[in-house]
Amino acid sequence: MANFKVTVVGAGFVGATAAQRIVEKDLADVVLIDIVEGLPQGKALDMMESAPVEGFSSKIIGTNSYQDVAGSDVIVITAGLARKPGMSRDGLLFKNAEIVGGIVTECAQYAPNAIMVMVTNPLDVMTWLAQKKSEFPVERVIGMAGELDSSRYAYFISEKLGCKPSDVKATVLGGHGDQMVPVPELTKVSGKPITKLLIGATIEAINQRTRDGGAEIVKLLKTGSAYYAPSSSAVKMVRAILQDTGEVIPACVYLKGQYGLSDVYCGVPAALGRQGVKKILEIPVSDGERKALHASAADVRVNFAKLKI
Ligand code: LAC
Repeated sequence: MANFKVTVVGAGFVGATAAQRIVEKDLADVVLIDIVEGLPQGKALDMMESAPVEGFSSKIIGTNSYQDVAGSDVIVITAGLARKPGMSRDGLLFKNAEIVGGIVTECAQYAPNAIMVMVTNPLDVMTWLAQKKSEFPVERVIGMAGELDSSRYAYFISEKLGCKPSDVKATVLGGHGDQMVPVPELTKVSGKPITKLLIGATIEAINQRTRDGGAEIVKLLKTGSAYYAPSSSAVKMVRAILQDTGEVIPACVYLKGQYGLSDVYCGVPAALGRQGVKKILEIPVSDGERKALHASAADVRVNFAKLKI
């Protein structure tokens, strides 16, 4: 069987690191595409020159041409501007809508059967925009954020408890913005909810650090935003899709009545596989968390409406 093919759009830090993780794990051959001439070609060649050392057999090419997207199983879109210190993700709305709109139209034309994984911010609005522009079924357009936010939450908890990060199974719902909803009752360490392991004030401080997780990195880096954890999360989704694992991953998906929300893209746990979203899971949340989820979704709706699509 031929290898899977994944296109990564945007050869910046998030895109290039995602591409690197995909080839190093031998998940698929990769096409890395960017408008800057030489940048994707140079990064792809550099990665191929690491293949003898790393031992992977997948191939990566760099290109500036959308024709190379043809036949992709998955398209990961990372292109766009990143936040500057002090800026909210929503501050990127109009500029990134223009960039993402053009890219999605090109990609949909050359790979009409692909699954799209959106990474560009503001994430939930860009995912919705990608679905509209591609006219793909909603199940085939998914945003990466919940896994990243949950991974940050899990890391902060592990740091506090002194346990292994991968022993923490964290749940964060809602849009990838200031109103995201960490769910402590459903965040467990070796099966025990953190509400039994940490006091309320500590949990609230960790919840807030999670909401500010992206901004904390932006502030430290001073130029650009996070890319190691975002690319890990995107690649976890790509793997679940390519290998049809049905793994439940918090992701930005189109809701049709789940959690009392309809006709909006927002972050909830979803089982991912070859057709994209296989199933959306409705996990039990408190009234307060449900309200917070609705507020987060309302924010996504307001920003999407600004695009007047
Ligand atoms: C973050 C940005 C990329 O959360 O949204 O790091």
